[in-house]
Amino acid sequence: MKITITKNEEEFNVTAAWRIIAQMLEKPNAVIGLSTGQTTIDMHRLLSEIHAQYPFDVSDITLFNVDELTNLPREYAGSCYTRILQQVAAPLGIPERNFIMPPTLSYDFEKECLLFEKRLLERGGADLQMLGIGTNGHIGINQPGTPFESETWVAALDPDLEARVCRETQLKQGTKPGGLTRGIKNIMHTRKVILIAKGSHKASIIAQAVLGPVTTDIPASVLQLHPNCEILVDAEAGAEI
Ligand code: GLP
Repeated sequence: MKITITKNEEEFNVTAAWRIIAQMLEKPNAVIGLSTGQTTIDMHRLLSEIHAQYPFDVSDITLFNVDELTNLPREYAGSCYTRILQQVAAPLGIPERNFIMPPTLSYDFEKECLLFEKRLLERGGADLQMLGIGTNGHIGINQPGTPFESETWVAALDPDLEARVCRETQLKQGTKPGGLTRGIKNIMHTRKVILIAKGSHKASIIAQAVLGPVTTDIPASVLQLHPNCEILVDAEAGAEI
């Protein structure tokens, strides 16, 4: 694993944004996976700013997000589709046909998971995954205990997130939101993975994921086995490694 510890949060955001730009310039038809959350907001904003300042053709770039909420409207401000559309795809001018996301509503999510993977494979498979990490080591929505062989599936949401989503979307009673996530196996098949984290609240889990045993108790620890993985953190998140 390559480890990059930036001197502060600002340098982290700039470095992370340039990793994505570099991939786009290196391969103009790259298939790039993003993730939502606090960690990526500034990085996504900088990505658009850099692209506005130094415009280049992104018409063949494919974007997707590592996970998506299910059983709620896609237009919900918290859906990954809406967040990535607003933060990255629209400002960069990524054509709609190249923004690949599973639907949030479907009668058959097993089929949607397979279709999502099929569509990425048709583009040549994922080149880069910018991957966030939860404080319990989750990647995507693969929580501790998820088998390493898991393939794109719908996981249960963390109870706090589930309660918030239900409140904000006023879902019909009996409807339960879920989390469609690329499985650990699919993430491991991505050509390059960059695990990103900032802030002192991530320091302990980053140390466990990077230095501890490879175990399903800490899903991110599987990345120790990835042949092309970088851990990119700010000084606070990197304080224990
Ligand atoms: C959620 C997302 C993950 C993301 C993680 C970290 O669980 N499903 O994809 O990596 O949050 O979020 P944050 O950056 O807000 O800490």
